[in-house]
Amino acid sequence: MSLLELHDINKTYIGRKVDSVVFRSINLTIEEGEYIGIYGRSGSGKSTLLNMIGLVDLPTSGEITLEGKKLRSLDDEQYAFIRNKYVGYIFQDFKLVEDMTVYENIEVPLLFSKEKLPTTERNVRITNLLKDLGLEGKGNAFPEELSGGQKQRVAIARALVNKPKLLIADEPTGNLDSASSEDVMRMITRIQKENRMTVIIATHDNYIKEFVNRIIHVEDNNLREG
Ligand SMILES: Nc1ncnc2c1ncn2[C@@H]1O[C@H](COP(=O)(O)OP(=O)(O)O)[C@@H](O)[C@H]1O
Ligand SMILES: [Mg+2]
Repeated sequence: MSLLELHDINKTYIGRKVDSVVFRSINLTIEEGEYIGIYGRSGSGKSTLLNMIGLVDLPTSGEITLEGKKLRSLDDEQYAFIRNKYVGYIFQDFKLVEDMTVYENIEVPLLFSKEKLPTTERNVRITNLLKDLGLEGKGNAFPEELSGGQKQRVAIARALVNKPKLLIADEPTGNLDSASSEDVMRMITRIQKENRMTVIIATHDNYIKEFVNRIIHVEDNNLREG
């Protein structure tokens, strides 16, 4: 069974004056362990696609299945539960909570999780992630005290803390200089390989093509492989 299947998906944003058609009848199958780059010009629909894949937004029509389960058949609570459990999300602008420490930022998804981990287990998990992402000693720092690359590594740790099956990154290097971008891409790639994690990155950085194993172009309201 595939991890994720999109069947005949249409996506239109309904506007006040004009509607905006983003996708017409797209199909996509994603297997567990794939490492995918999503390419397309600004406004082509990359974030829209990620939001549907990452259970943030539903298609206008068509069916998405996750491990064979139809998402439309889930109620709001089940949907939120599955999103929290399956998906880790990384954004271009990091989206860290500025008045929380690095440690507290990483802990947030654990506190929202249904499987309530005891404090000591949360601590082990967060400490290991800090170490793994080269953030040792930064647990008590606040986001404003970090470089862009460090902020994105905190965001990666936060995305991984619930051990998601699917890691989604929406232009993760868009706000970083080239050295930090490379640093972040190496980390994501190592984590992908070590855990055979399914990772999907939307970007227009051409050098990311060297890291991923499959490339999908978003153009003309459609998807094109390769
Ligand atoms: N919430 C929204 N409401 C209305 N239109 C939107 C919304 N989000 C995105 N769009 C439109 O959908 C198209 C695709 O946007 P997006 O997925 O953000 O593209 P990309 O991430 O490739 O830049 C754009 O034309 C954008 O203006
Ligand atoms: Mg976008």
